[in-house]
Amino acid sequence: MSAAQGVRTYPDLVQDLADRGLLGGRWRQVFDAVPRSLFIPSDVWQQLPDRCEPVVGTDHWLALVNSDEPVVTQLDDGAEDGPGIATSSNSQPSMVARMLGLLQAEDGHRVLEIGTGTGYVAALLSERLGDERVHSVELDPVVARQAAEFLAGAGYRPHLRVGDGEQPWPGTGPVDRLIATCALRYVPHALVRQVRAGGIVVAPLARDFWSGALVQLHVQDDGTALGPFCGGASYMPMRAHRAGPHRVDGAGGRARAAGVDPARLLTLGFALYAGARLPGVRLVHQDTADGARVWATREDGAAATAETGGDVLQYGPGLLWEDIEQSWLEYDALGRPGHEQFGLTVTGRGSVSGSVIRMG
Ligand SMILES: C[S@@+](CC[C@H](N)C(=O)[O-])C[C@H]1O[C@@H](n2cnc3c(N)ncnc32)[C@H](O)[C@@H]1O
Repeated sequence: MSAAQGVRTYPDLVQDLADRGLLGGRWRQVFDAVPRSLFIPSDVWQQLPDRCEPVVGTDHWLALVNSDEPVVTQLDDGAEDGPGIATSSNSQPSMVARMLGLLQAEDGHRVLEIGTGTGYVAALLSERLGDERVHSVELDPVVARQAAEFLAGAGYRPHLRVGDGEQPWPGTGPVDRLIATCALRYVPHALVRQVRAGGIVVAPLARDFWSGALVQLHVQDDGTALGPFCGGASYMPMRAHRAGPHRVDGAGGRARAAGVDPARLLTLGFALYAGARLPGVRLVHQDTADGARVWATREDGAAATAETGGDVLQYGPGLLWEDIEQSWLEYDALGRPGHEQFGLTVTGRGSVSGSVIRMG
């Protein structure tokens, strides 16, 4: 905080990231050199737990830009009168710093970013590695045009492309590092093929079973990629990876007592375990005064809802809550491994959305 005005500035934000140990190596200098405000348009929204709220007035704008919060820059893919869902943003700075640290980019490396967004990450990478070594692809042409303007205005000229980042970038050849700044439901092997053997892929995964997690994958000589989950992450999904709604059979709920407090299910370790054991089961949650309320759904119309201190209600075919409790018991019997004990393997044999594996 700058003492003179009592207003938080960009240097304050960078100092905060450094104090939290998130800016190793040359990243401190790089963040200092690239002010976030140069990449934020005037019309933005703040992400609240249940909606996006327009940011009104310069003071609010500056406070948000210099905070460790994402800044939403597009709603509903740019459509007027949509439901107000964030579809592009300048990501949370501490998340950006964590991901760039996991990327382990070194002098001379060529990097591909998927999801140019506002251009801020592309600018940080350009400052670190040089414009020539940075490629960034954005699906939305309006977002891409604005990013190109922001980057040029800040003095950076990385390679930019408008298109689907899941598809190979014609003529670039394999890069040393790939960073996805939109969340993937699974890691397509087509992404891994864009990275040389020995290279690294860093991406946020948005798993059905409530969790968002960062993964760091190391590309092997045989073209597979594997590596650990590195903590939680909440990112907007890659467009083709958005989850469609589950049709739930809401008639005739069957009540029973919960065998496990739903709040206990909300660790990243269990989310990764259950995501692998119960593919296709979606779970969302909300904090309550006493614990948590969760809703689980499955493609076949099965659903369950449970709240700390209350009964469970199950709908549709099967007994979804029993399945979840069974997974919890198995997980408990394994000693409740933390997220750092899980990893992901991506092979060329089709998509591997369920390939969460136990490490060690
Ligand atoms: C969180 S924003 C990226 C933030 C950005 N790195 C920055 O520095 O501001 C995610 C972006 O991914 C883009 N996106 C979604 N699906 C994509 C795809 N298939 N290929 C490329 N970009 C995509 C969205 O349009 C959105 O702009």
